[in-house]
Amino acid sequence: MAEIPDDIFTEQDADPNTLAKLGPLTRLAGIWASQGPRGADVNPKAEGPEHRIYSERFEAHAIDAQSNGPQLFYGLRYHTHINAPEEDATFHDQTGYWLYEPDTGLILQTVSIPRGQVALAKGFAAPDARSFKLTSVRGSTENGICSTSFLEQAFRTDSYSIEVTFNADGSWSYVTETMMAVRGQEGIFNHKDQNTLFKVGEPNPNPLSLIVGQGPI
Ligand code: HEM
Repeated sequence: MAEIPDDIFTEQDADPNTLAKLGPLTRLAGIWASQGPRGADVNPKAEGPEHRIYSERFEAHAIDAQSNGPQLFYGLRYHTHINAPEEDATFHDQTGYWLYEPDTGLILQTVSIPRGQVALAKGFAAPDARSFKLTSVRGSTENGICSTSFLEQAFRTDSYSIEVTFNADGSWSYVTETMMAVRGQEGIFNHKDQNTLFKVGEPNPNPLSLIVGQGPI
């Protein structure tokens, strides 16, 4: 919301069919996979940056519209699971929500990773945008990062950004940059990840759309 109205309780009427209201997030809905281990990761190691390639499966399914009083979001619940070709153990796992506020063009990504770290990344985009960028900054109460005490002291995460691009062939690509101060190392480390994902399945419609009989668009 640009300005906080006097009435912070009255909700807007929400469309029961989330998949029709996702604006710039419409093209993220569904089940996606990389074509083999084409993702590229640079992560921090004691001896310096380590470069790895990875495979990814990303799912984003519709949730019912969410209201913070008059603030209305349509969104997707996502999970990404990443493996490196050399090992069976999970290389990276992440869950959260992608949210879109039609009134303002606000896009939010909640980032939750099983290292004891969460972030809220924020940006704006037009409904038909072919790309957008969201950012999160340590210390912000609006789009901040919270880390467990070990990470705060050993891998202090100063910022996170994600740039999403929708490609002409229907795939989409992302570049994330997670900037961190690694204890004992000079400067700020750019833990960078990038991949292109291709559709392998349709999104689950939100629960309310099934109840009222408005299936997928
Ligand atoms: C495709 C996405 C990502 C992959 C494949 C990935 C992979 C990795 C790997 C392999 C490490 C080194 C682990 C170790 O040596 O123990 C690492 C470290 C780390 N990653 Fe990521 N990561 C990704 C995204 C992110 C994101 C989005 C964040 C935060 C917003 C993040 C935060 C961290 C932190 C704080 C560390 C340092 C912790 C440590 O090494 O103990 N990563 N990541």
